[in-house]
Amino acid sequence: MDVKTALAKRKSTRAFLNKEVPITTVNAILEQAKTAPSGVNTQPWKVAVLSGQSKKDLEQKMESEFRAGNKGTMDYQYYPEQWEAEYKQRRKACGLLMYSTLQIKREDKQRQLDQWAANYRAFDAPIMLLFFIDKIMEKGSYVDYGMFLQSIMLSAVEHGLATCPQAALAEYPEIVKKELGYEDQVLICGMALGYEDTTKDVNNYRTGREDLDKLVRYFS
Ligand SMILES: Cc1cc2nc3c(=O)[nH]c(=O)nc-3n(C[C@H](O)[C@H](O)[C@H](O)COP(=O)(O)O)c2cc1C
Repeated sequence: MDVKTALAKRKSTRAFLNKEVPITTVNAILEQAKTAPSGVNTQPWKVAVLSGQSKKDLEQKMESEFRAGNKGTMDYQYYPEQWEAEYKQRRKACGLLMYSTLQIKREDKQRQLDQWAANYRAFDAPIMLLFFIDKIMEKGSYVDYGMFLQSIMLSAVEHGLATCPQAALAEYPEIVKKELGYEDQVLICGMALGYEDTTKDVNNYRTGREDLDKLVRYFS
């Protein structure tokens, strides 16, 4: 598969088939992704691959915490405290698109809650990936990490798999660390990995992107 096709096919996928992904395939994806560049080749990525009982145990704990109304605190701040109009409007459009596709009304708080809760189960994908970085690492390594994550997602597409990167999976770092260790690490985010269920509405919409003239200025 060429890069153009992989880029076009990748999308955040939020419903998966109940079909196992061989660990050899996960390894093949990670082997490809680890070729991502990083400043002075620091390779700051550390990955936990969860499936089977270990995934079940962790997701039950996170989902219960969420349903008990306990908001977690991420190890780092992902979003700004004050949102500017430009970003606020895109965030709103992103949510609206998903909820309107799923026909979840604004006042239907229970369905909204259930939809969000699915995050903590990695949307029932057979594999949950969790990404850590050493506490001593700085912003530059977070830049590197994004390349690693996108490489995983593109390689997954080539392997016939789908993904959803998930900050939600980093909302309860203390639960994750109690279960898996990684105490000296920052939990960056997680990712659902599996075979897409193409029959589900939640997978049948695409988010838009701004025109280049809004993002790029040419100087010559
Ligand atoms: C680092 C990162 C964290 C994300 N966290 C979540 C999440 O917790 N839950 C979720 O449903 N989507 C999450 N997303 C997916 C975004 O909503 C999605 O990438 C965006 O709306 C663009 O859609 P697309 O990925 O289908 O192109 C995340 C994306 C990234 C890159």
